[in-house]
Amino acid sequence: VSCIETERLLIRTWRLPADADDTAEMFGDPEAMRFIPSGVLSPEGAAAAIARMIERYEADGFGIWPVVLKETKKPIGECGILYIPGTRDVQVAWLFKRSAWGNGFATEAARAVLDYAFSEIGLTRIYALIDRENRASIAIAHRLCMAFDRIVRVGRRDLMRYVLTRPDTA
Ligand SMILES: CC(C)(COP(=O)(O)OP(=O)(O)OC[C@H]1O[C@@H](n2cnc3c(N)ncnc32)[C@H](O)[C@@H]1OP(=O)(O)O)[C@@H](O)C(=O)NCCC(=O)NCCS
Repeated sequence: VSCIETERLLIRTWRLPADADDTAEMFGDPEAMRFIPSGVLSPEGAAAAIARMIERYEADGFGIWPVVLKETKKPIGECGILYIPGTRDVQVAWLFKRSAWGNGFATEAARAVLDYAFSEIGLTRIYALIDRENRASIAIAHRLCMAFDRIVRVGRRDLMRYVLTRPDTA
């Protein structure tokens, strides 16, 4: 991507160090990070995580990108697609600052990312892996019209797998 634009948001490539500073609070928030496998990250850990996201984008041609609020030009979260580790299946992922929750931003970003993945990258099937207790993310999957598929074991966690098939191939 150079940029994906929605009504209220821009999804663009990472800009360091500014984006790391602007997202450090989110990566350090236990509530936002509750269902993220890494758990909370220090500012250094967050910068390293961003560096890995940039590397993955360069290697795979897609990745997780910062989501910027057009109004303030500041990142309010991240959203994108990545391979499910050890597979060639692709999942969509989202994580937003707590101060940004409750505005429909995650759904707006994820919808644009899914459109991009289908139309620009040419994927035909995208998954979301969601903890059963992560009600806010389950609600997003439903708003995106993703269908519950089955429970999958990832590491030591049982996750709900949701799937969306490219509209013209469904
Ligand atoms: C998952 C997460 C992104 C959800 O955030 P969210 O703000 O609830 O999700 P959305 O962007 O879809 O917003 C929906 C909410 O905004 C409200 N809303 C307000 N204005 C809106 C608008 N213009 N359009 C749509 N929804 C709007 C909706 O009513 C809904 O609120 P409700 O949950 O009280 O019904 C957030 O909880 C998060 O970052 N969690 C931690 C990370 C995480 O667990 N990631 C997933 C791992 S699988």
